Amino acid sequence: MLQTIKKIGVLTSGGDAPGMNAAIRSVVRTCAFHDIKCYGIYRGYEGMIEGDFVEMDARSVKGIINKGGTMLKSARSTKFRTKEGRIKAHEQLLKAGIDAFVVIGGDGSFTGAMIFNQEFNFPVMGIPGTIDNDIYGTSHTLGYDTALNTVVDAIDKIRDTASSHNRLFFVEVMGRDVGHIALNVGIAGGAEEILIPEEDLGLDRLVESLRRSKKSGKSSSIVVVAEGDKIGKSVFELKDYVDQNMEDYDVRVSVLGHMQRGGSPSCFDRVLASRMGVKAIESLITGKSNYMVGIKNDVMELTPFDQAVKGKSKINMELLRVSDIMTI
Ligand code: F6P
Repeated sequence: MLQTIKKIGVLTSGGDAPGMNAAIRSVVRTCAFHDIKCYGIYRGYEGMIEGDFVEMDARSVKGIINKGGTMLKSARSTKFRTKEGRIKAHEQLLKAGIDAFVVIGGDGSFTGAMIFNQEFNFPVMGIPGTIDNDIYGTSHTLGYDTALNTVVDAIDKIRDTASSHNRLFFVEVMGRDVGHIALNVGIAGGAEEILIPEEDLGLDRLVESLRRSKKSGKSSSIVVVAEGDKIGKSVFELKDYVDQNMEDYDVRVSVLGHMQRGGSPSCFDRVLASRMGVKAIESLITGKSNYMVGIKNDVMELTPFDQAVKGKSKINMELLRVSDIMTI
């Protein structure tokens, strides 16, 4: 292998996701395998600007494959959005002799890496880590599979109490821009309706659907709502609306929030993280830069950062139809 890179930095940036630790472990161990020094960069781009680096060897990442969160910590850096901040970060990397970095994060983190690469011709590679799965160029981001399982588990528990009390629950799940989580957990959790950013169901149709389900003999219901859903109402406003328009319903709201980002990564996320780390480092070694590593049809692929950042991650429309049929 062509090898001019001697020291690689790795950072986690943006919202954390289960599997980030497994990806750090993979990056560090793939570096060790290829005789490349690896440096952990703490607190995302903030730590890069401050030169908060630590040398990591194969043993320094022991016991983390099963841990949620990120041992390197994460941050959303406003300083890195400024040219001044990026100049400082570049100086710190040069001072430490780091000649490439891998960023594990979402599209905001990739935009930063892309600009940095353009400004300093610095080799960069991205690993998609976000529970929202809202990144173009990969069928799965790190943390998404774990989050799905976490949310389904929570919905199963909510279902127990919903059915004991004959209640209707609005369950808010994460997903600012894309409804992947809502759609999948909605089907898996047997939700009556699924409200997602991609589709505006409308309040009247929602009420109509709930009336229909009551008539068909259902005594309790769950409506899964993505935080960015298009009806444009918060879950609490949805509750008020249903309270006012359907007196025979006892309605409750459950906002799952940040618990969705925690927990031990699933087998799928651990394997994906391991594969992505290998692909990222071996791509850098062969002279590739400015790409995001992704998985498509179980094959690791590279997508240029500009496409990963500009492209839209689309939901599977077939799932909407499946959900409609399941809620008859
Ligand atoms: O990780 C993505 C995400 O979970 C979004 O769905 C959510 O809106 C956001 O992060 C919240 O993150 P934070 O509270 O860290 O800003």
